[in-house]
Formats: sequence, C-alpha cells, structure tokens
Amino acid sequence: MAELKKLNLCVPISGNGSNLQALIDACAVPEFPAQIGLVISNKASAGGLERAKKARIPTLVVDHKAYPTRADFDQVMTKAMEDNGAELICLAGFMRLLSDAFCDHWRDRMINIHPSLLPSFKGLGVQQAAIDAGARFSGCTVHYVRKKMDTGPIVVQAAVPIQSNDTAETLAARILVEEHKIYPHAVRLIAEGKVTISNERALIADYNKQTQSLINPPTEN
Ligand code: GRF
Repeated sequence: MAELKKLNLCVPISGNGSNLQALIDACAVPEFPAQIGLVISNKASAGGLERAKKARIPTLVVDHKAYPTRADFDQVMTKAMEDNGAELICLAGFMRLLSDAFCDHWRDRMINIHPSLLPSFKGLGVQQAAIDAGARFSGCTVHYVRKKMDTGPIVVQAAVPIQSNDTAETLAARILVEEHKIYPHAVRLIAEGKVTISNERALIADYNKQTQSLINPPTEN
C-alpha cells in the first residue's frame, strides 16, 4: 500500500501546550494525514516543550528577548520553519504578535486557535469578556491568520453554553475540551485538501458531513 504523504506541521507555543498535546495525540494515529516536524517556543520554560520531547518531536527555543525587533525574531522563526520543511503553521497558545511580513509569508499556511466564537471577543481575557457581556454562548475558533489579531477565514468552531455561575476559569476549562477536538479536526480537513479560501471565507467541501460529528453525535444512517 502506498505510504500516506503527511502534511508537515510546525507548532509554535508559549505555555502549557494542551492544544499541542491534542495535535500530538491526533498525529499518533497512523491514518492521520499530518505530522509535527517541529515545536517552537519563545519561552524555555513552556510546559509544552516537555510534551514535544516526550513524543520525540524536535523542539527549538527562540527567545524573543534576544532579538532587537519583532521582524528579526520572526525571520529567525521562518528560517527554522523552512529548514524543517513546514507546510502548515499551527499556532497553539503562542503569545507573541506577529509581524506583517511573517503573516504575509505564511498567508493561507498558518492557522490559530482562539477561545471565543470569533469575530466576537478578540484578544486576551476573552472568557471573562464573554461572561461580562452576558453572552449565552462562547466557544472556540480555528482560523487562518491575517495581520489583524484574531481575524482571518474561519475553519471550524465549537459553541459552549455559558452557565450563570461560570467564572473565567470554569468557562475556559470547558472551552479547552472543545479546542482539543476542533484543532485536530481542522488540521485534518486542511491536510486532506478539503479547505479552500474564497473571498476571505474558508469553504469546506461537504461541510455538513465533515463537521456533523462535532456538532451532534453521529446518527445511524
Ligand atoms: C488556548 O486557550 C488557546 O485557545 C489560546 O491559548 C490557549 C493555549 O492553551 N490561543 P494551551 O497552551 O494549548 O493549553
């Protein structure tokens, strides 16, 4: 049987890396159409680095404080990603703003996961912001990255009801559970070539079939 050509991912992180772990677990399944070639962190203390090492994935720390400008830092990252043959950049809790040049270079080849239903609630502290706004639902979004923070074509979303006694922490925890499902799902859709971008919308071939199991439990027929 012909060997599956896997999409090569680079995952930049800054922290705990639970989304990285979800991608590691997905990639461990032989049929999954992607693999992680490199994990980059801007912080040597990021917990996600241990997760990568445990999975025998190459890691690189690029300390942003060592570079005079954001552009210098981004150039070093791009060089490392290209040397590794990265085909899709999956930002996973990477807490640095990206330069315009970096966003242009990786346009349509870089995605991010954000803990709200974009375009609502961009930036940081979004779980508290959704509670404060009295929203009935929040959730998470996987989207292609554009220059303006937390914008870009939406690939997959999951909604999470907000309960009246929610704190930012309880809501964040329930959203994270969904993040760990939709990030690998979005990567799979992209790796299988099912996502195209048209007029700044991400179109997914056979959308209902592809995403139904995330919205409702699969039905018999
Ligand atoms: C997640 O909530 C993600 O949506 C946001 O940063 C957080 C990263 O968490 N971009 P983790 O490091 O993946 O656990």
